Amino acid sequence: MGFEGRSVVSIKDFTREELDYILDVAEAMEPLYDKGSDMLRGKVLALLFFEPSTRTRLSFEVAMKKLGGATIGFAKPEATSVMKGENLADTIRVVENYADAIVLRHPREGSARLAAEFSKKPIINAGSGAEEHPTQAMLDLYTVRRERGRIDGLNIGLMGDLRYGRTVHSLAYALSLYKVRLYLISPPELRMRREVLEEIEGKIPVVEVSDLSEVLPELDVLYVTRIQKERFADPLEYERVKGSYRVDLKALEGAKEGLIILHPLPRVDEIAPEVDNTPYARYFRQVRSGVVVRMALLALILGAVR
Ligand code: CP
Repeated sequence: MGFEGRSVVSIKDFTREELDYILDVAEAMEPLYDKGSDMLRGKVLALLFFEPSTRTRLSFEVAMKKLGGATIGFAKPEATSVMKGENLADTIRVVENYADAIVLRHPREGSARLAAEFSKKPIINAGSGAEEHPTQAMLDLYTVRRERGRIDGLNIGLMGDLRYGRTVHSLAYALSLYKVRLYLISPPELRMRREVLEEIEGKIPVVEVSDLSEVLPELDVLYVTRIQKERFADPLEYERVKGSYRVDLKALEGAKEGLIILHPLPRVDEIAPEVDNTPYARYFRQVRSGVVVRMALLALILGAVR
């Protein structure tokens, strides 16, 4: 399907057929999660993380290693020549000599696009400021399909910080390619960005509400996000919305049977720990999906699977 050598900058660069194919390849990778493979032996993946990460960095690293490849990189820029003033374009033009593909997390919106313009090697966007996190959306789609058996026909709620949360931006774009009804649940200050709404409205039905109780009985999937404290320019603005929503057992009274709750993690206080042991909670299983989806993506981009 033509993935070899391709960058992953925005989920908007993918068609539904391409996303479905990535999910199919991820499913085929499931046995290799335990068994491993050497299909990427001799290949090197660079992990350039200019912002903190636990899941994305480690899951790319483990995905590459499970397929027999190697990784290089850094988890924070303090130990690199960025501290001497080296810019992103130069960093990319250097690292492309060491690696077959580059995973980039950066605080600036547009950073992945800029890196892809300068790089001869594929760039994989692992989070570009508050803009997008396309591989998270792929693993979110995979988790919904695996846990619910399908994506089409579902009522899906995205809840929390829809303004600064990059995962919900990519996921909303991706879901607009499927036959779903989308409920956007957030405090008024954290409503979905206009540019995302403009892109998805007209493709799928979208309902915006400020409280979970207004739509809970409709939902098949509830995707919760934390408030992205690090993105607020004004600390007072953050203080005003802090703690403004929380999913606990009481809030889930009246939920549809079969509801699943997802969260990209990390969680702060927006899902009470008492929810973790209910059949609703799938967010730790979602973490495992991140490995097989990234195995699939690396195998496709590096030409081991076509
Ligand atoms: N979901 C996610 O992006 O987590 P990390 O920030 O830990 O990578």
